[in-house]
Amino acid sequence: MIKPIRKAIFPVGGQGTRFLPATKAVPKELLPVVDRPLLQYAVDEAVAAGIEQMIFVTARGKASLEEYFDVAAELTASLKAKGKTAELAVLAETQLAPGRIAYVRQQEPAGLGHAVWCARLITGDEPFAVLLPDELLWSPEAPCLKTMVETYARLGGNVIAVLEIPAEQTHGFGIIDPGTVDGLVTEVVGLVEKPKQGTAPSRLAAIGRYILQPEVMTILAEGTRGAGNEIQLTDAMAQLIGVQPFHALTYTGRRFDCGDKAGHITANIALALERDDVGPAVRAFLAGIGTGD
Ligand code: UTP
Repeated sequence: MIKPIRKAIFPVGGQGTRFLPATKAVPKELLPVVDRPLLQYAVDEAVAAGIEQMIFVTARGKASLEEYFDVAAELTASLKAKGKTAELAVLAETQLAPGRIAYVRQQEPAGLGHAVWCARLITGDEPFAVLLPDELLWSPEAPCLKTMVETYARLGGNVIAVLEIPAEQTHGFGIIDPGTVDGLVTEVVGLVEKPKQGTAPSRLAAIGRYILQPEVMTILAEGTRGAGNEIQLTDAMAQLIGVQPFHALTYTGRRFDCGDKAGHITANIALALERDDVGPAVRAFLAGIGTGD
């Protein structure tokens, strides 16, 4: 029987050093893309995929994440008194029902695999999703995790999202060794984290969305260190290959690496251009750059 995916882990314990000094006081995950925090896009994607419970793996200095997902009673009362219905609607639309969010702390930044393992007692014996909020996967018509859940419902096992990237960038990603291909679904016969230049088995890179079976937690519990002396999720996943079904689904929407400054700025511009309120002003500014005005 294929168990449904009801829970999603959001590792948000990273220090976000690439965004200092901003991230000294504001978690990277709360930096806005237009007017929504980065993390909200990942939560929206999880909700669209039918996820019931969001598990945030946080760390010291990330308390404002909990504030963000709380009911802001005073703010709501003040907006109501002023008749600000549009603003109230925005708050209501992003509010999750009580009990849908759980928080666990990652007590040391020991890597992505370690962050995922910190959630093991909440996921228990169920398969679960992992979403890295840094990766803004913008595909409102076919949200990435939703398409992965559909693939999982057909094939079971483990499903990860991949994107074909230029060969010169493979050393920065987890790369799959591909088996048989069926449309957008590729069988995974091997996985390697950050392969040395020229050694990557393909150009298909993992882009921060995973559906995993609970057995990966047992492997992570061994605490084996990999690249960067961190406990790597990729290394633990690699041990499931050949033991359980393992497939990669090629993502066809737009991706912005918002863990990186240029990617974050690009995401702001791209999403602003799609908006009726700010789009025209941003478009006019960009056109001005083009003509040297
Ligand atoms: P990054 O490699 O981007 O690290 O983590 P970072 O600390 O967030 O950012 P920089 O490089 O210092 O600017 C990738 C993802 O893994 C999570 C991060 O929160 C991010 O979602 N992560 C990483 C953890 O939750 N814990 C860790 O120990 C490491």
